[in-house]
Amino acid sequence: MIWPNRKQGVSPTPAASAETAVAPAARPAAPAAVKAPSVTELSPGDIKTELKVELHQKLLDRINLTALETMTREQVGRDIGEIVSEMLKEMKHALNLAERRQLVEDILDELLGLGPLEPLLKDPNITEIMVNTAFIVFVERAGRIEETRARFADNKHLLRIIGKIVSGMGRRIDESSPMVDARLPDGSRVNAIIPPLAVDGPILSIRKFAKIPIDMDKLVGFGAMPQACAEVLQAVVQGRRNVLISGGTGSGKTTMLNAMSASIGTHERIVTIEDSAELQLQQRHVVRLETRPSNMEGRGEVTQRDLVKNSLRMRPDRIVLGECRSGEAFDMLQAMNTGHDGSMTTIHANTPRDALSRLEQMIGMSGIDISPKSARAQIASAIHVVVQLERLSDGKRRLTSLAEVTGMEGETVLLQEIFRFDRQGIDAQGNVLGELKPTGIRPKFMEYLMARGITLPSHLFDPYRRMDTAA
Ligand SMILES: Nc1ncnc2c1ncn2[C@@H]1O[C@H](COP(=O)(O)OP(=O)(O)O)[C@@H](O)[C@H]1O
Ligand SMILES: [Mg+2]
Repeated sequence: MIWPNRKQGVSPTPAASAETAVAPAARPAAPAAVKAPSVTELSPGDIKTELKVELHQKLLDRINLTALETMTREQVGRDIGEIVSEMLKEMKHALNLAERRQLVEDILDELLGLGPLEPLLKDPNITEIMVNTAFIVFVERAGRIEETRARFADNKHLLRIIGKIVSGMGRRIDESSPMVDARLPDGSRVNAIIPPLAVDGPILSIRKFAKIPIDMDKLVGFGAMPQACAEVLQAVVQGRRNVLISGGTGSGKTTMLNAMSASIGTHERIVTIEDSAELQLQQRHVVRLETRPSNMEGRGEVTQRDLVKNSLRMRPDRIVLGECRSGEAFDMLQAMNTGHDGSMTTIHANTPRDALSRLEQMIGMSGIDISPKSARAQIASAIHVVVQLERLSDGKRRLTSLAEVTGMEGETVLLQEIFRFDRQGIDAQGNVLGELKPTGIRPKFMEYLMARGITLPSHLFDPYRRMDTAA
C-alpha cells in the first residue's frame, strides 16, 4: 500500500540513504501570509491545472512517497485510480470514465515525474515557475506573476525533485555544491539553490522552454515594438551590423536575440555560445556550443571565453553569444572587429550607455592589460547598434531604445538614439501608455546598408509620422 498514513495525513520519514545529503531547513509556519487565487478568478484552462494541483496535493498528504520509488507504474496506477475516484467524489467533481482515466494517467506522470511541478510544466500559459521552499509556488501566467496552490509535501520532497532534475543532467546538488543550473529534457532552464545558501529551504526557478519561439512578428503583435522598428532590426541583421542587446533579467534579451537571428542568411555559418543552450535558430548551418561547469574535483571547466576563442577556429561567419558576462567580452569584441561582422550578444544593463560601460568593465575582467581609452576604442569600432529592452511596471516587455554607436570623440564613445520610448502615463488598469518614436536622426548605418543593397525607407525615421503600433 502506498497510503499507510491516510488517517493521520502525515508522510512517513523516507529512508535516509536514498535521500540527498542536505537536511532541509524546517519551515516553521504554513504559507498563510500570501493568499492563493480563488478558483473563480481563474480561466477554464487554469481551473484544470488547479484541479490537478489540488488532487496532487491531497495525494501527497496520503501517500508514502518513498514507497512509490520501488513500485511499478501498474501497481501505483491501481492504487491511485481508487484514491482519485474517492477524492473526486468528496470534491463533488463529476467526471466520466474517459476523463477520469486521463486524470489518473496525468497524476501518475506527476507522481512518477516531477511531482507538483508537472501540471505547471504542462500548462502552456505558464512561462515561469518559482518555488520558494516547499509551500510557496509562484508562476508567471500571461505576463503576470501569481501564486498557485501547488505545494510539495515538505522541503525533503522538494529536494528530492530537485535531485531528480539535476541528476538527470549528470549534475549534483548537496551541501558542498548547493547551487546548480540544469535543463529539463524539454529544454526548460532550471536553477536550484539549497541550504545553507538558501536560508529558508530549497529554491527552484524554472524558465519554461517556449515550444514555439517568439519571432519578430509576434514581438510586434505583443506590442514590444512597432512594425517599423522590427523592419529596421531585420535590416541591421541582414546587413551584418554587430548588435548588443541590453536589458534587465527577464526583459526579453534572449527572446530578442533569437528573433533577430532569424534574419541571418541560410548560407552563413553561425556559431552560438551559451551557458545553457536556449537559442533556437532555424537555419541548418548552425553549430551550438555550451559551457561546462567544473567537476567534483574542481576541474574541467570550459568557460564562454574558451568557447569564443575556439569558435574562431571553426570558420564562423557570425558568432552569437547568449550573454556577455565577463572576460569573454574582450574576445567577442575582437571577433566583431576582425571579420565576423553581424555578430550579436546580450548584456545586463539598464540603458545603452550603461551597456557600453558594462562592456568596458568586462574587458577589465579578461585580465588583458589595456588602457580605458583603447578599451573604449575597441567597443566603438566593434558595436554598431544597441537595443535596449525593459520590462515596464505593467509587466510588458518592450523595446525602449534603439541606439547607434557612431565613433569616438576624445575618450568618449558616441552614441545616438534612433528610436526612444515616449512614456505618457498609466491608465486605470495599470498599463503603461506610450510609444516608441523616432528621434528624427537618420542612422549612419543606413548608408552602409544601402551600399549592400538593403534600403530602408527614410519615413521610418520621421518623428512626425505616426507609427503603427500593433497590440
Ligand atoms: N515581448 C515579449 N512579450 C511577452 N513575453 C516575452 C516577450 N519577450 C520575452 N518574453 C518571455 O519572457 C520570458 C523571459 O524572456 P528572456 O528572453 O528569456 O529574458 P532575458 O534573456 O532578458 O532574461 C520568457 O518566458 C519569454 O518567452
Ligand atoms: Mg537570457
